[in-house]
Amino acid sequence: MSFVTIERLDKRFGAEHAVRGLSLSVARGEFVTLLGPSGCGKTTTLRCVAGLERPDGGEIRIDGETVAAPARGLHLDPEDRNIGMVFQSYAVWPHMTVFDNVAYGLRVRRVVGAELKERTMKTLDLVGLAGLAQRYATRLSGGQRQRVALARAIAYRPRVILFDEPLSNLDAKLREQMRLELTRLQHEVGITSIYVTHDQAEALAMSDRVVVMNEGTIQQVADPQTIYTAPENAFVAKFIGVANLLEAKFVARNGATCELEVPLGEPRPPARLHASGGEHSSAGARVFLCLRPEDLALSSEPPRGCGGVNAMAGEVVDTVYLGTHLECRVKLGCRELCVQAAHQRHFDTGQKVFVSFDPRHALCLAS
Ligand SMILES: Nc1ncnc2c1ncn2[C@@H]1O[C@H](COP(=O)(O)OP(=O)(O)OP(=O)(O)O)[C@@H](O)[C@H]1O
Ligand SMILES: [Mg+2]
Repeated sequence: MSFVTIERLDKRFGAEHAVRGLSLSVARGEFVTLLGPSGCGKTTTLRCVAGLERPDGGEIRIDGETVAAPARGLHLDPEDRNIGMVFQSYAVWPHMTVFDNVAYGLRVRRVVGAELKERTMKTLDLVGLAGLAQRYATRLSGGQRQRVALARAIAYRPRVILFDEPLSNLDAKLREQMRLELTRLQHEVGITSIYVTHDQAEALAMSDRVVVMNEGTIQQVADPQTIYTAPENAFVAKFIGVANLLEAKFVARNGATCELEVPLGEPRPPARLHASGGEHSSAGARVFLCLRPEDLALSSEPPRGCGGVNAMAGEVVDTVYLGTHLECRVKLGCRELCVQAAHQRHFDTGQKVFVSFDPRHALCLAS
C-alpha cells in the first residue's frame, strides 16, 4: 500500500524542465532514496512533496490525502502537511538551547508541561543528546547540530520525514557514523522517509529502495542489491559504483546468455564475448557490455577451463595498491578496463595479462 504517492509530477522553472512526469510510490515506514547527479531534480521533487514548491502538473498524496493537485488548484501549505524536514545546512536555531530547538515543533502543536518535557527528552535520548539539553546550539559540533536537526524533525512524529543531503557537510568519518545512526533510528521510529543524496554509497547503505534519477526523470527504482547487480541501463550502471562500459554489437542469444562483439580497434579483431541480459536486443543492435572491476579475473597465463571464451589478452598500464585490493588498469587494444585483484597479488606495468569473466557477471545493457 502506498503511503506517499507522487503521480506524473511536473515542475518547470522558466525554460528549465526540472521534474518531468515523475511517478513514485513510497510504502508506510519505508526508507526511499532519490539518487542522481547534480541538477537532476532531487531537491525539486522533495520540495514539491514538502509543499515548498508548487508543481505545474501531477498529483501528490500522503496517507490518502491529496496535498497537491495543480489541475484542481489544490495546494496544501507546508505546515498543514505534517512533514518533518532535515536539510544540508544545520537548520538549528542558535539562540535556543538544544531542548528548546527540539521542543519547538511540539509547542507549535500545543503540547505543554510534563508531556512536552517527556517527549522532548525521549527524542533527545534517541539521538544521544540528552546530556546536552541545556547547551546552546551554537556550542555544538557539526555532528551534534545535525542530530539536533534530526531530533527536531522527528520529535512531533510527522507522517513523513524528508532529508536533503543531511550528511554532506560532515567529514567522512562522522558521515559514516551518522549514516548508521540514522538508519538505526529510522528503523526504531519507523517513520516513512524520503532521502536525497548524490552519494551512491550512502544510498546503497541506507535505503530499502533507491530511485536513480537523471534529467528530471526516473531511470530505475529497486532495492540496493538489484540496482547494483542488475542496472537497467548504462546510465544507472555508470552512476552506481565503478563500471567498465564497452560499446558492443549484439550478435545472438544462446539460452541464458548472449553473444556480443566488442571492437578493440584495428588491427585487433573484435572480441566475441558472452554476457547475460540483452533479452530485448536483436542482432546488430548497439549495446553496452557492463563489467564490474570486482567481477573480472586477471592472470598471467591464459585462463583454463573456458576454452578461451570470455578471455582477452591485454597489457597492464597502471596499478594502484589500495590496502583491501589492487586496482589495475589493463589495455585491450584501444580499450582500457579497470580490474580489481586481491591485495596479495602483484602485477608490473607493461606485463602481458589475460582478463576473463563469468558471463553471469557480465551484463548486456541497452544504450
Ligand atoms: N528556484 C529555481 N529557479 C530556477 N531554476 C531552478 C530553481 N531550483 C532548481 N532549478 C533548476 O532545476 C533543476 C533541478 O534542480 P534541483 O535543485 O532539483 O537539482 P538536484 O538534483 O537537487 O541537484 P543537487 O544535487 O545539485 O542538489 C536544475 O537545473 C536547477 O538549476
Ligand atoms: Mg539538491
